[in-house]
Amino acid sequence: MSERTFVMVKPDGVQRGLIGEIVSRLEERGLKLVAGKFMQIDRDLAEDHYGEHEDKPFFDDLVGFITSGPVFAMVWEGQDATRQVRRMMGATDPADAQPGTIRGDYGLDLGRNVIHGSDHEDEGANEREIDLFFDEVELVDYERIDETWLYE
Ligand code: RTP
Ligand code: MG
Repeated sequence: MSERTFVMVKPDGVQRGLIGEIVSRLEERGLKLVAGKFMQIDRDLAEDHYGEHEDKPFFDDLVGFITSGPVFAMVWEGQDATRQVRRMMGATDPADAQPGTIRGDYGLDLGRNVIHGSDHEDEGANEREIDLFFDEVELVDYERIDETWLYE
């Protein structure tokens, strides 16, 4: 089923020049970009976004890191998009992520894992995160010219 998911290149990915590479991988897979915003996250937004981790010992470091520099926030659409993006990202800790995944190819450290994607095991996380970062009017409706070749 076609769905939308929230994806973000984190401050380390932006500083390391990986925006283009990450966008390319998602585009080439056949996912459709429906929104994108280069932005600086403030503390309130960071605390909302990572609210599920507020009781964890790493919460302050996580909020500090995600607000430490610009990020590239995006919405991508496609069949099973949330789960497929998570598969392309690889394991949370880049040290455990398979080569070929984004974290497995571009990261080494748990606290510098390059990319965020909505959790497919957390029902509704994709819609919640899209709402947090984007207004409805920023989500663009269109068809990719290759859609008839991507889907049966
Ligand atoms: P994210 O939300 O950033 O896409 O990452 P994720 O779903 O793969 O992992 P999650 O469990 O949601 O954790 C959020 C971020 O917190 C950092 N973390 N540190 N020190 C620790 O034990 C620890 N555990 C997680 C990671 O940077 C992770 O991306
Ligand atoms: Mg998460």
